[in-house]
Amino acid sequence: QELQMNLEQIEKGGYDHFMLKEIHEQPKAITDTYRGRLLRNEAIIKMAGVEDNMKKFLNANRIIIVACGTSWHAGLVAEYIFEDLARIPVEVEYASEFRYRNPVITENDIVIAISQSGETADTLAAIKLAKSKGAFVFGVCNVVGSSIAREADAGAYTHAGPEIGVASTKAFTTQITILTLIALRLARAKGTISSSDFRHYLLELEMIPGKVEKALQADAHIKMIADIYKDSRNCLYLGRGYNFPVALEGALKLKEISYIHAEGYPAAEMKHGPIALIDENMPIVVIATKKGHYDKVVSNIQEIKARKGKIIAIVTEGDEQVRELADHVIEVPETMEALSPLITTIPLQLLSYHIAVLLGKNVDQPRNLAKSVTVE
Ligand code: G6P
Repeated sequence: QELQMNLEQIEKGGYDHFMLKEIHEQPKAITDTYRGRLLRNEAIIKMAGVEDNMKKFLNANRIIIVACGTSWHAGLVAEYIFEDLARIPVEVEYASEFRYRNPVITENDIVIAISQSGETADTLAAIKLAKSKGAFVFGVCNVVGSSIAREADAGAYTHAGPEIGVASTKAFTTQITILTLIALRLARAKGTISSSDFRHYLLELEMIPGKVEKALQADAHIKMIADIYKDSRNCLYLGRGYNFPVALEGALKLKEISYIHAEGYPAAEMKHGPIALIDENMPIVVIATKKGHYDKVVSNIQEIKARKGKIIAIVTEGDEQVRELADHVIEVPETMEALSPLITTIPLQLLSYHIAVLLGKNVDQPRNLAKSVTVE
């Protein structure tokens, strides 16, 4: 028993939990995921699974993304990126809903399945269904040789390394990394992005790991905020555009490991319901980075303040406007809007981690949850 505990200590590499270790591994995981694929000097993106099937991608009527849980949130981010950069219509589906509703699928559709484990039963069943209807299936998995990876017609692995914590962290950011690379590659092939913008993206992508590292430095400040709000019964997460899925993911992280009820919402939808919940006992995490509807989000923050909600804002370094309004701000480095989820996700992971630890919850193995759901 003692030996096993020591082994686990070693595996955690000095961190208290696998989740914290995996949060901190993200700069490396993201780098490992674009290494060999993003060739900045040659100004190209090279991915065999995409290259070999370029015709299919270019002729696709639409892309349907199927996934569950955190992977579904990565799919939502990808929807913004694919439509924005490559101008391909995208639908994002919960695998479990998709497979049971007689979906319209044709041979000109591409189905992208996103799955960390590559074993999620609903996602696997969804791609089997899509294949039977003639769609081309592309897998984005982390576990090499997993069922979804094998079932797919082609794919690209995230190189996150093993993820042990049940709450997914580095798998999420590496999924976004891969999907961004694919979107950029297709945008280049379709001519929907200029070569200078393309280069700019490559350059900025290579700076993401350093910026994630910088975002991680807010850890002690975030822990202090966690201590203030750990006893809340509810929490709201708001974001817009590229950062709407990040709000969903932030809320999911909090639910999963701290058992605090949390909901993510597109900031503008607040007035259609969630605003009724706001009073002095409601903490609201708002992603309010510069770019991406900043002014609109600022007015949402004013509406929250008028109702005495407690505002924890994720802002761009040097921000002054939101700082004036918010109860707490967490700064993150500036980046291009389409890449911002890779950065804004970090403080939300740390916030839920610290709240769960302060509440004494089992962070790595939350109750009722499994790392990989191989049953329906
Ligand atoms: C479970 C895990 C989540 C994960 C989801 C999808 O619910 O607890 O962390 O996001 O399954 O898993 P997958 O392996 O398909 O990405």
